[in-house]
Amino acid sequence: MTPLRMFRGALTLALTVVASLAVLRSDELLGAQRSATATISGETDGWASRTVSACDHRKAVVVEGVRSNEKLPPQKAQEVADLLSDLMRFCNEEVVARISIREKITLSVNGLPFVDYVQGGELPVELVHGKVQHTDRDRAIWKAELDREVAEGDRLFHSDELGTNGLACAMCHPDASNTHPETYPKFQTQLKKVALLRDMVNWCIQNPLEGKVLPDDDPRMKALEAYILVKRTGATLDPGKH
Ligand code: HEC
Repeated sequence: MTPLRMFRGALTLALTVVASLAVLRSDELLGAQRSATATISGETDGWASRTVSACDHRKAVVVEGVRSNEKLPPQKAQEVADLLSDLMRFCNEEVVARISIREKITLSVNGLPFVDYVQGGELPVELVHGKVQHTDRDRAIWKAELDREVAEGDRLFHSDELGTNGLACAMCHPDASNTHPETYPKFQTQLKKVALLRDMVNWCIQNPLEGKVLPDDDPRMKALEAYILVKRTGATLDPGKH
């Protein structure tokens, strides 16, 4: 091999190496570009959104196209309220619904992938565990809890501990008679304003019983209301009636 040939050979080799390196680099570059594009399109897909949760914290609606600190326009707010009320039918499930900027509703039940949903429709049956919503055990627990609350109200209603003069509610309202919870809210002449049942409970605590009013969130107020309401089971709601 002549020195010239050797030189040519080395040059070709070097060029090949450089070329393949260039290919490698351009591949890398392309890869980098691809992932950058993916990130950008991911960002464009992920609109700013605001999430509204239902009071059970098991349902949420994500509204796309509204910033998290922005008020929903009235029509959107109503749409979210309707959707949340609709989803409350599936009380045992955790549901995240998404309203896209194109008004398409998709939802994910119990962390499963998002599926299309038409408001008022059924969830895919297998996702709601055969549509069994409440078990007998659930109902038994709820009843026991309510019974406990009512029993505490019953005890307070018959005790003198809410006042200072020895009187008890049941002395004037045996069996919660004449408490008329079904007529509240109503304008109460004694209070000269619209009153809730609890306002009248407090009025009677202050007046005949000479006791101290209970704050709205006092567990004793809750128990008294529970007892009075349960005693009037079946009465037709008639707010404002005198
Ligand atoms: C000394 C008798 C007496 C006692 C004790 C008494 N109340 Fe009353 N209560 C009345 C009278 C009288 C009224 C009627 C006031 C009215 O509606 O004009 C009344 C009204 C009420 C009302 C409203 C009824 C309606 O028709 O709107 C509620 C509720 C009530 N009482 C609850 C209680 C509770 C709870 C207690 C115990 C903390 C209690 N009362 C203790 C005499 C009593």
